[in-house]
Amino acid sequence: MSTSTLTQSLGAPVTRLDGHAKVTGAAQYAYEYPVEGVVYVFPAVSTIARGRVTAVDAAAVLSRPGVLAVLDHTNAPRLKPGVDADLMVLQSPEVSYRGQIVAGVVATSLEAARRAAEALPISYEQEPHDVLLRDDDTVYTPETVNGMLPATFEVGDPDTALAAADVLVDARYTTPAEHAMPMEPHATLAVWDEERLTLYDSNQGPFAYGQLIAALFGIDASAVEVVAEYVGGGFGSKVLPRPSAVLAVQAARVVQRPVKIAMTRQQMFSLVTYRTPTIQRVRLGADREGRLTVVVHDSLSQSSRLKEYTENSTADAKLLYAAPNIRTVSRLSRLDVPTPGFFRAPGRTPGTFALESAMDELAYELGIDPVELRLRNEPTVDPGTGLEFSSRNLAACLREGAARFGWQHRDRAPRSRRDGRWLVGTGMASATHPVYIRASTAVARAEADGTFVVRVGATDIGTGARTAMAQVAADALGVPLERLRLEIGRASLGMAALAGGSMGTASWSWAVDKACRALVDKLGAYAGAVPEGGLEARADTAEDLEKQEALSRHAYGAQFVQLRVDTDTGEIRVDRMLGVFTAGRILNPRTARSQLVGAMTMGLSMALLEIGEPDPLFGDVVNHDLAGYHYAANADVPAIEAHWLEERDDRLNPVGGKGIGELGIVGTAAAVTNAFHHATGVRVRDLPLRIESAR
Ligand code: MOS
Repeated sequence: MSTSTLTQSLGAPVTRLDGHAKVTGAAQYAYEYPVEGVVYVFPAVSTIARGRVTAVDAAAVLSRPGVLAVLDHTNAPRLKPGVDADLMVLQSPEVSYRGQIVAGVVATSLEAARRAAEALPISYEQEPHDVLLRDDDTVYTPETVNGMLPATFEVGDPDTALAAADVLVDARYTTPAEHAMPMEPHATLAVWDEERLTLYDSNQGPFAYGQLIAALFGIDASAVEVVAEYVGGGFGSKVLPRPSAVLAVQAARVVQRPVKIAMTRQQMFSLVTYRTPTIQRVRLGADREGRLTVVVHDSLSQSSRLKEYTENSTADAKLLYAAPNIRTVSRLSRLDVPTPGFFRAPGRTPGTFALESAMDELAYELGIDPVELRLRNEPTVDPGTGLEFSSRNLAACLREGAARFGWQHRDRAPRSRRDGRWLVGTGMASATHPVYIRASTAVARAEADGTFVVRVGATDIGTGARTAMAQVAADALGVPLERLRLEIGRASLGMAALAGGSMGTASWSWAVDKACRALVDKLGAYAGAVPEGGLEARADTAEDLEKQEALSRHAYGAQFVQLRVDTDTGEIRVDRMLGVFTAGRILNPRTARSQLVGAMTMGLSMALLEIGEPDPLFGDVVNHDLAGYHYAANADVPAIEAHWLEERDDRLNPVGGKGIGELGIVGTAAAVTNAFHHATGVRVRDLPLRIESAR
C-alpha cells in the first residue's frame, strides 16, 4: 500500500487510503456488488403533478420476455404509516408530484425492465396543480424548522428600531431550486434472506438509514444490514432513503430475488431531495457609524403536499453580527412538488446569500468598506442565544482574507475598473457553519500479530473521512497507519453520526479517539503483550455529549472574489476566489483543502449557473437533465485559494475539529454577486447571475 509512513499522523497531508482502490475500480459501489440471481426494477413515474392513478395495465407488459412482476399501489408490499410520508411508495393511488413512482417493473435485465416500465399503460384522474413558489395566502409559518428549531425568533423591538434607523436597507432576494447530482446516482441492491434484509446502498449514514428502512417495513432494526462502504457523493441528497430504495426492497420481497435499482439522471430531478427555492426579505438598520441596530430576516421556502420540510435560511441573521434587535421568520408554502431536503449547507447557503448581499448594500449606503462594516459589528456573545462562543475567529478570517486578497487597494466606487472590454470588480462575504456533533460508537481492537482494527459506522462520501479517521486512530494508538485497518460503512458497526451537516468527522473522531485510548489503557494492563484472541475496547460518546456545556460552537470564514464582465456580450468570468476559514483543528490539510475548494466551486456554480426551472404547465422541472441543468465545469473555475488559520478550541471534542464539509460554500454566492455589483454597478438579487444581468 502506498500509505504514508508518518507516525505523527494527525495534521499530516496523508493521501487518501482508498485512492488506489477507487482509481483502479477495486472499490465496490452499491450497484456493483456481485450477487447471484440478481434482477432489476425500473420505476414508472407519474406524468401528472396532482391527482390519482385510475389504472395500471400490468397485463400489457407482463408477457414480455424477462418481465417478472409489475408492482403498483394495488399489490405492493404494505409499509408502516407515520415513518416518512415521502417514502410511502405505492401505498395509495394518490399522486402528489410529477415524477413520483406510480409503478415498478421487475425484469431479468435492466433493459427489459426499463422498456416495459416506459411502455406500461397508466391512466390518471388529473387535478389542477401548482408548482410555483410565491408569497400568497397559501403561505404559513410552520411550528418548527427541520423538525426541531423554532420557526420564529425575536429579541428587542425590531419594528421600533426599523423606524428609528439612520440608514436602512430593505431588499428582496430569491434563490432557485438547486438539484443534487452526485457522480454516483442513488443506487440500491436489496437482498432478502428470510426475514433479514441486506441493502447495498449509496447513502450518507448506514446506521440511521437501516433504522428508518426497518421501521418502514415493520421489522427489527437488527434484521437490517446496510452496506455503504464507498459512496460517490451525496450533497445531502443521500441522508434519507429515497423512494427508489423502498421500491427495490418491495420488489425483492415480491419476486424473492435480489433486486437492483439505480436512478437515471432525469429521475433524480424528482426522486431526490433538492434545495427549495427561496424568497427572502432582509431589513438592516444601522447608525451612521455602521453599527447595526436591527436585523430582520424573513425567508419563504416550499415543500411538498406529502411532508413538511422548511429550509432554515434565517439562522445566520441570529449569529453573524451584533444587533440589539433581531427578528427572523421562516415561512412555508406547500405545493405539488417533490419534497425538498438537505442540500449543501442547508439554509445557511441561501440565507447567507441574502444576508451578506444586504450587508454589502448597507456598506454602500453608509460609505463604509464592506470588510470594515463587518468588523464593526463583531459580537462578544452569540446574539441569538446569548451563549459564550467556544471560539470565534470571523474577524481574523476577514483581516487575513483582506490582506491575502489585496483588498486594501480597492477603489470602492462601482464600475471604476476596466480592462479593455471587461469591467472588473471585487466582492466579499462572511461565512459560518454550525458545529454539529452527534453521539457515535466505535470499537478498537488489538490483534495478537501486532496490528489493530478500528470499527466505526462512518461513511466516506468522497470527503476523505476514512483517511482522517485512520489518522485519528493511529495517533491515539501511537502506531503508524500501516499497522491499522479501518472498517466503516456498515449499519452493523453500530450507532454513528451521518456524513451530513458537516458532523461526520467531528463526531466519529471523538468515538474513535476514545475507543483507541481505552484500548491503550487495556493493553497497559497486559504490558503491551496482546493476549491470544486479541483485545478490544468500545466507546460511546453519548454520555460525553450530555455533559457538554452549552456554548455557541461554529466555524467561520471570509470569502473574496474577483470577476469580470464583458461589456459587449455580458459574459461573466470569475477570475479569482479566495477563502480564509477557521474550523478548529485541521486533521488532514490535503483532504481539508479539497473539501473547501470543492465547496467554493459549488458556490460559484450556484452563483453563475444553477437553476431548476419549474414548468407551471406540466409541473415538471423543465431542464431535468445534465444538458439543461448546468454545473460549473473546469473551464468556469478560476484560481481558487482556500486558507485556514490555526484555531485551538478545547471545548468541541477531544480531537478538536469543527467540521469543514459545508463551510466553504456559505458566503460564496454573495461574494460573487457583490463583486458583480462592484464591477457593473448593477445589484443582482435573484440567483443565478445571467448574461443579461448587467443590462
Ligand atoms: Mo449535508 S447538505 O447536511 O449532507
